[in-house]
Amino acid sequence: MLIQKNYTLRRFNPADLEAVININRVCLPENYAAYFFIDTYNTLPDTFVVAESQGHVVGYIMCRLEHGFSDLKKLRFAKKGHIISVAVIPDFRRLGIGYSLVEQALSALSAANSDECYLEVRLNNEAAIELYKKMGFIITRTIPRYYFDSSDAYVMTKALT
Ligand SMILES: CC(C)(COP(=O)(O)OP(=O)(O)OC[C@H]1O[C@@H](n2cnc3c(N)ncnc32)[C@H](O)[C@@H]1OP(=O)(O)O)[C@@H](O)C(=O)NCCC(=O)NCCS
Repeated sequence: MLIQKNYTLRRFNPADLEAVININRVCLPENYAAYFFIDTYNTLPDTFVVAESQGHVVGYIMCRLEHGFSDLKKLRFAKKGHIISVAVIPDFRRLGIGYSLVEQALSALSAANSDECYLEVRLNNEAAIELYKKMGFIITRTIPRYYFDSSDAYVMTKALT
């Protein structure tokens, strides 16, 4: 049987919560309580995007907006979009979904007047690091012992215009 892998992107809907929590648990060691997803959605709904294929959610991205020192311009304050979590289920990887999710989130963060976008990524997460590099993110710093298992994180940042 030919498996269709077409997908569409749309804004998260609270009815997607269970599917998103499942994807998060399958794909990442950083898991969150249900209220965190809903709170993130309520705070910045346009930047919480899901990929859907044949009625099933197969990927998601969620972000928030922060104010703080720029990672790109020394000693400058910036409005910073923060990609909190992005994941695509294993059977749907390498189809451009991750790229499309990040692209959509960047567009929504730009519309919210973010100066830049950043995220944390494990040093050994080659797939994610390559994805972000392809999208113009650069490694701006390393946070030692960032993760609960004491792994370090790269901070990767991209200017938004
Ligand atoms: C990272 C992740 C979201 C990428 O999703 P995806 O839909 O497979 O990514 P795409 O198909 O859009 O890939 C876009 C580009 O990213 C890079 N990339 C993606 N997966 C890669 C891999 N396994 N190895 C090397 N480069 C990879 C490539 O440059 C790719 O372009 P190409 O296919 O033309 O070579 C997915 O691997 C995932 O869910 N991983 C587990 C969760 C995770 O690590 N999230 C990020 C936390 S910081």
